[in-house]
Amino acid sequence: ATAQIGVTGLAVMGRNLARNLARNGFTVALHNRSPERTRSLVAEHGDEGTFVPAESMADFVAALERPRAVIVMVKAGGPTDAVIDELIPLLDAGDIVVDCGNAHFADTRRREEALRGHGLHFVGTGVSGGEEGALRGPSIMPGGSAESYRKLGPIFEKIAAQVDGVPCCRHIGPDGAGHFVKMVHNGIEYADMQLIAEAYDLLRAGLGAEPAELAEIFREWNAGELESFLIEITADVLGHRDAATGRAFVDIVLDRAEQKGTGRWTVQSALDLGIPITGIAEATFARSLSGHADQRAAARRAFPDAGEKKWQVTDRDAFVEDVRRALLASKIVAYAQGFDQIRAGSREYDWDIDLGGTATIWRGGCIIRARFLDRIRQAYDEQPDLPTLLVAPWFADTVNDGVPSWRRVVAEAARAGVPAPAFASSLAYFDALRAERLPAALIQGLRDNFGAHTYHRVDRDGTFHTRWAGDRSELEA
Ligand code: 6PG
Repeated sequence: ATAQIGVTGLAVMGRNLARNLARNGFTVALHNRSPERTRSLVAEHGDEGTFVPAESMADFVAALERPRAVIVMVKAGGPTDAVIDELIPLLDAGDIVVDCGNAHFADTRRREEALRGHGLHFVGTGVSGGEEGALRGPSIMPGGSAESYRKLGPIFEKIAAQVDGVPCCRHIGPDGAGHFVKMVHNGIEYADMQLIAEAYDLLRAGLGAEPAELAEIFREWNAGELESFLIEITADVLGHRDAATGRAFVDIVLDRAEQKGTGRWTVQSALDLGIPITGIAEATFARSLSGHADQRAAARRAFPDAGEKKWQVTDRDAFVEDVRRALLASKIVAYAQGFDQIRAGSREYDWDIDLGGTATIWRGGCIIRARFLDRIRQAYDEQPDLPTLLVAPWFADTVNDGVPSWRRVVAEAARAGVPAPAFASSLAYFDALRAERLPAALIQGLRDNFGAHTYHRVDRDGTFHTRWAGDRSELEA
């Protein structure tokens, strides 16, 4: 047994992770259900490091040093369970099974418990950064036992992206914590992308500009506070021309956004936890809405003119700056909500997740990597019990500076009939949080009126009910 770690499942993510491990000096055992992939990996990249290819699962396991560490990189769900079931009888107590796919954290909790019963460690690990990240340095979010991290930590920290000499990998917490954090990462990714898409749409409507011109604006934004991977590739995509037609690429792509499910999981979990992640939810629903082609066609026919006013931008630079500030403020809301959800999940499942530490490992490697993440790290490091990211000094200043722009953009978008659901709902969230009184009081009154659901008073402790159908006297429940 010579391999320090093994990878089973050599589709593109598994293959690139294996190559990254080998390039960093680790001896990597390889296995794939159909051996052709294993052979082609060795044939094409065998010179990048030391690989130990195996055709059977038994040979693969036998090639590993103990405690063994096996990375499973197959499709989430049934295929993952099948590989785990095959591995269990071949492993010994103390060995580690790592699932680097986008598994649901509830599945990870179930698997962790089951493998613990066999004396094995199961480590659900979030890996972000796509194919390139897997090869050149992803952001890695391992859950599972602290003991498993003693073996995995030095390996993962070496192959992860590095920012200011700090690896974009840390032990997130027990059982499903790593996959939970990766799930919220993806939810934030949805919100970030939706906000960028709305900003593009607003700029296009307001300026009547071509995508290539808008690419320039995103390129400029990427030199400032908005600097991030997603803004950078937005400039790239907007600047791209379709070779076949010569038209802007973004104009020849069907406008129906797809999803594999992590955004939906994030929203479902937030509902369970009672955390309003409105930005992420709007982003997820905006994708669904885009896919309802029949409803969209019917509504277009029924409402050709809904009183929208043509957008008249008189000061181009001021308008672009308004959209930039509105985007930044909305983005702050999305991250504030995402971190609220991580905190709530951590409490619910006893994970003790370090919020500043989570921001630290998102600074590089992952899809949402951004300059901004360093501010989040700082905010939570300075005040771990921050009630909301919105009130941390830099974030509060930025939102205060941006709020007039934010209101103008949302109001103008409504007037012009340009949908900006994530911008609008983020602003509404902000205003709701800071409201002195919310109409929730009326909701309580209605609930008590039709269902005797009781209410609390502002002036006295206790639980009350009004006899609505009777003499309207109040009684204390
Ligand atoms: C990442 C990405 C990755 C994947 C998304 C795509 O962090 O590297 O998030 O996990 O590309 O899951 O998700 P959708 O298909 O749902 O957009």
